[in-house]
Amino acid sequence: MSSSSNLQLTKDGELRHFLTPEGLDRLMLERILDTADSFVVVGNQEIKKVPLLRGRTVVNLFFENSTRTRSTFELAAKRLSADVLTLDIKTSATSKGESLLDTLQNLRAMHSDMFVVRHSDSGAAHFIAEQVTPNVAIINAGDGRHAHPTQAMLDMLTIRRHKGHFEPLSVAIVGDISHSRVARDQIHALKILGCKDIRLVGPNTLMPQGIENMGVSTHNNMDSGISGTDVIIMLRLQTERMASAFLPSAGEYFRLYGLTTARLAQAKPDAIVMHPGPINRGIEIESAVADGPQSMILNQVGYGIALRMAVMSMAMSGQMQQRQAQANQTSSLSGEKKA
Ligand code: NCD
Repeated sequence: MSSSSNLQLTKDGELRHFLTPEGLDRLMLERILDTADSFVVVGNQEIKKVPLLRGRTVVNLFFENSTRTRSTFELAAKRLSADVLTLDIKTSATSKGESLLDTLQNLRAMHSDMFVVRHSDSGAAHFIAEQVTPNVAIINAGDGRHAHPTQAMLDMLTIRRHKGHFEPLSVAIVGDISHSRVARDQIHALKILGCKDIRLVGPNTLMPQGIENMGVSTHNNMDSGISGTDVIIMLRLQTERMASAFLPSAGEYFRLYGLTTARLAQAKPDAIVMHPGPINRGIEIESAVADGPQSMILNQVGYGIALRMAVMSMAMSGQMQQRQAQANQTSSLSGEKKA
């Protein structure tokens, strides 16, 4: 097991932080999906609230822009009955020169139980969980180009609810693989869940070197890459992470890799189309496909709330168990001293 998976789990193997699916086992990912399924049911009820996080404080710390992820995390925490604070970092003391560490220590002093963290540095959430506030449950809401575990898992939830078992599926991930934290975690999660045919489709300039070592195939030709697939996941060009020009032009990119109705016909007739958002119409996807009957793009947003409720409730429960175990250990040690 990798060190991040150990860091994510209690001694009894329960989730206490969620930083990446990498290193977690199939059983754990399936438990997350099963729990999320039950929250999809809650989300369809008239009253959408459950008391699992009542009396707990969740702080959303978004150091990077976000619309969907931030709002669905906030809604998920509220539906779990937590007290929720969403910090706009641009107006917080961090922008007055307070260091990240000081901000976090102050938030911990307010007895926060969970931090949901999005940061432009790869490894930020991991660092906080390991070095800064180990007794606060950390949920990674995207760190640099490294990981975005709740997005990957809500994508797995979408696939499982619409396609069933992962083993027989052919899944294509199309576009800017190099800069995508979503693609990395999708690959980890698909592999752990048993998917055998994972195809990465895109130009060489956007394909990380040696990615085949992750047990995936790479394709520069879009038509053959998506041929016969059950699931097509489109990615946005992450221009904010591109230091130089990786592409001739947006028009050229759309001609070669844009998902059009004609191209979609290469996939299985019942293939589903996904995208983490934000979508760029006419660059990676045609409107007719994004708004068409095979598109799952808005379903993904709804499943995101259920998946985030699942991960937050599981990590909070693991964190509480860990705190209890530590408290028991301290009291038995002080008992030994007295005796
Ligand atoms: C993704 C992200 O932020 O990494 N979006 C998201 O979380 N909904 C992908 C992207 O920004 O393109």
